Amino acid sequence: MNPTPVEQKADVLYTADLHGSRELYAEAVALARRLGVRAVILGGDLAPHATVVEQRGFFQGFLLPLLREFREEKDSPDIFYIMGNDDWRANLPVLLDSGIDRFHHVHCVVRPFQGASWIAGLGSVSLTPFALKDWERWEEGLEGPVRHDGFRSREDGSVQPFDFRGREWEEWIGRDLEVIGRELKPDRSPLVCAFHGPPHGTALDLIHGEVHVGSREVRKFLEARQPLLSLHGHIHESPAVSGRFADRLGSTICVNPGQRMGSTLHAVWFRLEDLEGSLTHSLLGPAKLDAPAT
Ligand SMILES: [Fe+2]
Repeated sequence: MNPTPVEQKADVLYTADLHGSRELYAEAVALARRLGVRAVILGGDLAPHATVVEQRGFFQGFLLPLLREFREEKDSPDIFYIMGNDDWRANLPVLLDSGIDRFHHVHCVVRPFQGASWIAGLGSVSLTPFALKDWERWEEGLEGPVRHDGFRSREDGSVQPFDFRGREWEEWIGRDLEVIGRELKPDRSPLVCAFHGPPHGTALDLIHGEVHVGSREVRKFLEARQPLLSLHGHIHESPAVSGRFADRLGSTICVNPGQRMGSTLHAVWFRLEDLEGSLTHSLLGPAKLDAPAT
């Protein structure tokens, strides 16, 4: 039994980076039930770190049956999801063709959310030191131990070598953000973003040693568009390093719940009409946000 924090009714539950942990998924579903949310958002890195075939087995054998059963419960929430950089894209059709009602993939699209708002998703992240490159994209100013070569999966499930060098602009993360930007008609507000990678230079993109590894392009997008809320993941340790799971970029509240494998679920919940007053972390409690800049 998790003694903290107080679980009040909420509209939305967000978590990310469950990486195939059956225990954490079960915890997320149980928490969504207790909170009575109307939407659950899964912010990428859904499957265990494994081969294409093994990840497909996880989706078919565990995650989709779990979510199908959950969705069949009376008044169960809509489920929104993106894949993350550790999910082989070749398995996306398995999720898209699941037949689960109100199970929405939101990568590079803008969809209605909770009646009076909108949600936009982005699975893409800037280059990492890892080999799985399906969801990685290039951007200027990359620092640290990034790797340009690796592997991408194809629709037939095969995996091929891939190298970003020489195709940087073709693979620019800004292209995906432009796709979202084109769908953002002026009346599509308020907006909630679910972008796997956090914005650069915030409390949400810190690795050990206090190095910022988030995306500068994601940050530019958020600063220009000023969504109500921006939900992230990817940098599991950032809340532990910065001591915060929420930060501000202008009028946007940005969140990364973090995740530590094998421990209690890191998740946040909130009510959209009182975001600041209700934003709560499953382990860290209510958000402590600085006053907005004037
Ligand atoms: Fe992750």
